[in-house]
Amino acid sequence: MDSHTLVLFGATGDLAKRKIYPALFNLFIDRKLALPLSVIGLGRREWSDETFKKNVEQSLREFSRRAPQDEEALQAFLEAFRYCTLDIGKKEDYQKLLKLIEHREGELGLEPNRLFYLSVGPEYFETIAAQIQDNGLGSDEGWKRLVIEKPFGHDLKSARVLNEKLSVAFAESEIFRIDHYLGKPVVQKLEALHQANPEIKALWSNRKVANVQITASETVGVEERAGYYDHVGAVRDMFQNHMLQLLMMVAIHLPDKVSADEVNEVHLHKKRVMKSLEPLHKHSAAAGIIRGQYKEGSVQGKPVAGYTSEPGITPESMNDTFIAARLQINDSDWEGVPFYIRTGKRMMDKSTRIVVEFKEEAAQLAATAEKSKAPNLLVLEMSPGEGITLQFKGPTFEPAGEFSPIQVELPEGRGDGREAYENLIHDALQGDPTFFAHWDEVELSWEWVQPILDAYEENMVPLQLYAAGSCGPAESDALLAKDGFHWWFDD
Ligand code: BG6
Repeated sequence: MDSHTLVLFGATGDLAKRKIYPALFNLFIDRKLALPLSVIGLGRREWSDETFKKNVEQSLREFSRRAPQDEEALQAFLEAFRYCTLDIGKKEDYQKLLKLIEHREGELGLEPNRLFYLSVGPEYFETIAAQIQDNGLGSDEGWKRLVIEKPFGHDLKSARVLNEKLSVAFAESEIFRIDHYLGKPVVQKLEALHQANPEIKALWSNRKVANVQITASETVGVEERAGYYDHVGAVRDMFQNHMLQLLMMVAIHLPDKVSADEVNEVHLHKKRVMKSLEPLHKHSAAAGIIRGQYKEGSVQGKPVAGYTSEPGITPESMNDTFIAARLQINDSDWEGVPFYIRTGKRMMDKSTRIVVEFKEEAAQLAATAEKSKAPNLLVLEMSPGEGITLQFKGPTFEPAGEFSPIQVELPEGRGDGREAYENLIHDALQGDPTFFAHWDEVELSWEWVQPILDAYEENMVPLQLYAAGSCGPAESDALLAKDGFHWWFDD
C-alpha cells in the first residue's frame, strides 16, 4: 500500500466515533495500514490535537471490537492524528488544511497521496468536493480519492445532479461510494465461495433455484433519527442501496477466470443484473410492493410505541418503516426465479440473511415421505451471527424412510469478527473499488426504485400497519404465498 494521508471530514461526528476510528485502529493492530500513518480530522468545533486524540481514544474504548490493551501501540496509533477546525464553505480553511497536509507529508516522508473521507451529511458533499478541487488539495504527484457515505441522492434526479457535481472534481475511478453491506464479510466471500466450489456454482441458476429471499430485519425503531428517517423511509434508507446491492451480489455470475481488466468485472456483472430487472410501473407497483409501518406492539418482550407516536414523528405520517418486494431478473439464468426482498424496523429480531431455496425434483419428492418434504436451502447469514450453511435432507434410521434436515456449516463462511468498515477502509486505501457502489449501479437502482417513490407519493400503494415485534404485515407473507412459497425462519 502506498503511503498516504487520510483527511476526514466530520471527525467529531457519530459515524467517525462508532465506526471509522475503531476500524482504523483494528487495521493498525493487524498491520494492514501503510506506515507512518497520518490522519487529519476536520470539524467545526475548536478542538486542539490533544482533545481530538482523547476523543479518538474514548471511541476505541467504547466501540472497538478489540479494546486497546497495549499502551505503546495505542500511543503510536494516536500519534498519527491531527485536528484542524474547518468551516465547510470557507476557502481560507482549505488553504490552512493544505498547509497542514503538506507539513505532515514533509515531516513523515509521505507521498502526496490523499484520501478525502466525507463522513458528513450529503448536503455538504458538493461544496466539499468543489473546495478540494478549487484549492488544489489533490496533488498532481500522487493519487486523490473521495470516500462518501450514503445517501447518494434522494431520488433519481437528485442522484444524477449530485453525481454530475462530484464528477467535476473527481473521476469515477476516484470515487468510493460506501455501502457498508458490501463490506460485510459474508458478502465479500460470495465470489470466492463460487470460484472455489463448482458444485455451488452449478446450482446457481433457474435450473436448480426455486426462489431467493433477502431479509434485513431490525428490532430498533426510528430512534433519534426522526428528522432524517421520516423523509426517507425504508425504501430509501435500506432498499435502494443495501438491499439491491445484496440482490446484485447474490445474482451475479462471474466467468471462471476474472480478468484483471481495467473495468472491474464485478461491476460489469452487477450492472447487467440491474439492467435485466423487470421494470416496475407506478400503476402496478402495488402488485409487487408491500409498504408497511409499525404500530405499537412488543419487541422481545418489551412494549414499544407505534411509529406515529415516536418523538419527532407527526401522527399523520405515512412514512414506510417496512418494504417487501418481488423482483424478477429477466436473463437466461434467472428467468422464472422470484427474488423476494424485505426490510423493516421494529420487527421480531435483528437478522440479515439471504436464503436460496432449491427446487424439489420430481424423483426427490417421490422418494421422501410426505412430512419430510422440506426443500434444501443455502443460508448466507450476516447478522446476528455470520455464516454460510447448507441444509440438506438427512435420512433418519427411525422411522426408516423419513428425512430430517441436516445442516452443514461451511467453515470458511464463519466470520472472524472483522467489521465491514475495516474491509472497506482498507480497500479504499488500496484503491480497490470492487466492494463499493459504482455510479452505474446507483443510477440503475434509483431508476428501478423511482416508480415506487412516485406511487408512494400519490398514495397508490396502501400503507399496511404491522405490530411492532412481528415479521411485518401479513401482505408480505401473501406476496410469497401467491407463488406457493413462504419466508424461511420466521418463527
Ligand atoms: C443504515 C441505515 O444504513 O443501516 C440504518 O441508515 C440501519 O437505518 C442500518 O439501521 C443497518 O445496518 P446493519 O449493519 O446494522 O444491518
